[in-house]
Amino acid sequence: MSLFTFAASPLVITLTVRSFTFSPPRCSKHTVMSAVRSESTSTCPVLTKFQKNCATPTTFLRVVADAIADDMQAGLAVHGGGDLEMILTYVDALPSGKEEGLFYALDLGGTNFRVRSVQLGGEEERVVATKSEQLSIAQKLMIGTSEELFGFIASKLADFVAKEEPGRFRLEHGRKREIGFTFSFPVNQTSIDSGTLIKWTKGFNVSGMEGKNVVACLNEAMEAHGLDMRVSALVNDGVGTLAGARYWDKDVMAGVILGTGTNACYVEQKHAIPKLQNQSSSGTTIINTEWGGFSKCLPRTIFDQEMDKDSLNPGEHLYEKMISGMYLGEIVRRVLLHMCQTSDLFGQSVPAKLATPLTLKSQDLCKMQEDDTDDLSSVGSILYNIFEVKADLKERRRVVEVCDTVVKRGGRLAGAGIVAILERIERETKRLASGQRTVVAMDGALYEKYPQYRQYMQDALVELLGDELACHVQIKHTKDVSGLGAAVLAATNSIY
Ligand code: BGC
Repeated sequence: MSLFTFAASPLVITLTVRSFTFSPPRCSKHTVMSAVRSESTSTCPVLTKFQKNCATPTTFLRVVADAIADDMQAGLAVHGGGDLEMILTYVDALPSGKEEGLFYALDLGGTNFRVRSVQLGGEEERVVATKSEQLSIAQKLMIGTSEELFGFIASKLADFVAKEEPGRFRLEHGRKREIGFTFSFPVNQTSIDSGTLIKWTKGFNVSGMEGKNVVACLNEAMEAHGLDMRVSALVNDGVGTLAGARYWDKDVMAGVILGTGTNACYVEQKHAIPKLQNQSSSGTTIINTEWGGFSKCLPRTIFDQEMDKDSLNPGEHLYEKMISGMYLGEIVRRVLLHMCQTSDLFGQSVPAKLATPLTLKSQDLCKMQEDDTDDLSSVGSILYNIFEVKADLKERRRVVEVCDTVVKRGGRLAGAGIVAILERIERETKRLASGQRTVVAMDGALYEKYPQYRQYMQDALVELLGDELACHVQIKHTKDVSGLGAAVLAATNSIY
C-alpha cells in the first residue's frame, strides 16, 4: 500500500488516495495470498455441491466479461437495450484542476450521509480547505417517506452551513452556495443537475419516489429549512469517484465502487454512443453503467435465488447481489443454515439465530478468513457471538470454506466486470496496447477491508487481460474521493 502524493495540496489529508499494490506478474513482485488455509472438508455433500456450483474458472469468467460487454453495447445503442442502464451522466467536462471557489458535496447512498465543503484554489493551490461531517441514516428513514428522508438531509445541511468558519471558507459576493449531490442509486439523468429515480437498491425503499426528480425533492426540503442553496451537479458515487480521482491524476479512466452496493462508471467516446442522437458526437462523456443490474449467465445457486426472493428488490440487481458487501454474509448464512438442517453442521438442532436473516456481515466473513490460529479460535468466537453455537474445529473449517467459496466467486466476478470496462475503453483508445498507464479509481469498504476479495478480483483481472495488458492497469484505492469529485463537478457546472 503506498500513499498517493497530492502535489501542492498539503491540506487535503482527509482525501487520502491510497493504492493497494496491484502488481501484475511481469511488472513487479506479485504476492499471492492464501485465502483458504483449511484442509479439504471432503465429506460434506451440501458444501461440495455448493462449491461446484460457484466455480468460476477463467473460461467461464471470459463468458461473463463478454456478456457484460454485449450488454454495455446494447445499453449504449438504445435506452433499455440491455441489463446495464448505461446512463448518460452529462458529465462531459472532466476536472482540470483549475476549478475555483467554495462548493459543497452531499452524499447519500448507504447507511451514512455525508456533507462536505471544499474551497478550491485553482491549479496551483488545489484544495485550500475542506471540512466534512458524517451522519448515519436511521433504518426508518431508509424505508419511510421522501419528505422524512430529504427533510433530515436538509436539516443536517443547514446545521453544517451554520457552523461554517468564515475565515477558512469564502463564498464570493453575489453567489449562492452550490452543491454537488452524490445520489448513489440508479437515476435517469435528464441533465447535469436533474434526474428521476429509476429504482431503489441496497435496502432503501422510500415510498413514492420512483420516477420523481431527486433534485426537486432536495430543493423542496432545503426551501422548507430556509436554505438558499443550489444543486449544480447530480452525480452517482461512481462518477464522483472517477471525477475526484481524475482531479489529481489524468490517467483515471474509470470509477468502480465495491462496497455495500456496486457500480462502475467510465469515460466513453461520444461517437461510440448511438443513443446520443442529435447531440454533439465529439469528445468524451462519463457513462454510469449501473452494472449491478447485470443478470446473464451468472452462477446463481438456490441460496442466491432465495435471498433475492426475500430482498426488497426481487429479480433486480442480481450481479450486485453476488459481488457486493451487503449480500455476501447473507449468502453464507443461508448455506450454513442448510448445512445445519441437513445435519452437515452444528449437531442436531438448528440454532434460532442461524435462521435469522442478515445476521452475518461481510466484516465477519473477513475476520473468519483471516484467523490464522491452529484451532481457528476467532472463527469459534464469531460463530458463538453471532449464532450462539459451539463449533468444533472441523465445523469451523467448513464455515471458513463456505466464506471462501462465496468471496472467491464474488471477487472473481467483479474482476470480470472490470475487465469488460477496461476492454471497452481499450477498444476506442488502445491505451493499454500502446503501453499507456490506465487507472481504475476504486472505492468501497468491501474492496478496502477484505484482502482476500481484493486478491481474487485481481487474479481474475490478470487471468482475463493477460500479463501484457494488465501490467499497464492500476487499480487505485481512492477512499472517499467522491465528495471532492461532486464538489468539483458543481464547480465545473456552476451558473456563475
Ligand atoms: C446503485 C448504484 C451505486 C452503487 C454503489 C448500487 O446499488 O444502483 O447507483 O453506484 O450501488 O453505491
